[in-house]
Amino acid sequence: MNYTYLDCLASFGVGGAHPGGLKLTKRILSREYIDQETSILDVGCGTGQTSAYIAEKYRCPVTSLDSNTTMLLKAKQRFSSLQLPINVVQGSAESLPFIDRSFDFILSESVTSFTNVSSTIMEFKRVLKTNGVLLAIEMVLEDSLSQEDLNTMVDFYGVSQLLTQSEWYNLFHKAGFKQITVERYKSEFDENENDIDSASDFLLSENIDDQLLEIFEKHVHLTKKYSDRLSFCIFRCCI
Ligand SMILES: C[S@@+](CC[C@H](N)C(=O)[O-])C[C@H]1O[C@@H](n2cnc3c(N)ncnc32)[C@H](O)[C@@H]1O
Repeated sequence: MNYTYLDCLASFGVGGAHPGGLKLTKRILSREYIDQETSILDVGCGTGQTSAYIAEKYRCPVTSLDSNTTMLLKAKQRFSSLQLPINVVQGSAESLPFIDRSFDFILSESVTSFTNVSSTIMEFKRVLKTNGVLLAIEMVLEDSLSQEDLNTMVDFYGVSQLLTQSEWYNLFHKAGFKQITVERYKSEFDENENDIDSASDFLLSENIDDQLLEIFEKHVHLTKKYSDRLSFCIFRCCI
């Protein structure tokens, strides 16, 4: 069987599978006004670490959506063991199963890159309320890669393309987002940290195939190899 990078994340049940992990999520959310009435959509929720944090901290309505069955199973187990009333939905980011203007916030933590980016961003705009906010943490291409290196990255991660910061900005703008702020993610942020938020969060499947371990190792290798040409940005977009 040919496994993908996302199969690997799902089998290992990696929580906080975005740069900066839960620590960065907490920092980003701490700057926003969120109360018990605030409706939040966690798109591509994975195993639900962020959704669980939000529901516990803010006691607000949280919807967690993902297209991957294994991820959602693990998210449901997490929510049920924590007794959190989170609405879990299987669906695709490119065609969100929600009516227009449903949410105050959308979080997309290392998700949009894996989708048809233009369609997904249009959907984010559609389901956000008038004063809603999109918070997206995304991979950004810094320097041009050779065609060969580009193919390696696109094939391995299963992304449709790798975008520069200005390409991302233009897509958000084109979809109708008016106020867009961009913050470059600094990896120093969590270096040398030894606290609970930096700890790994795994919900392992049974009988993990060796091929999936190899994919994980290749991910670590590629991350190191291209660390100077790839970075991450936090995009905060309002309508
Ligand atoms: C890198 S993981 C990030 C998971 C989670 N946001 C986190 O930070 O731990 C990407 C997630 O996006 C989901 N995903 C990928 N393509 C998707 C799509 N088209 N629609 C919905 N979810 C998608 C994957 O199943 C996976 O759970």
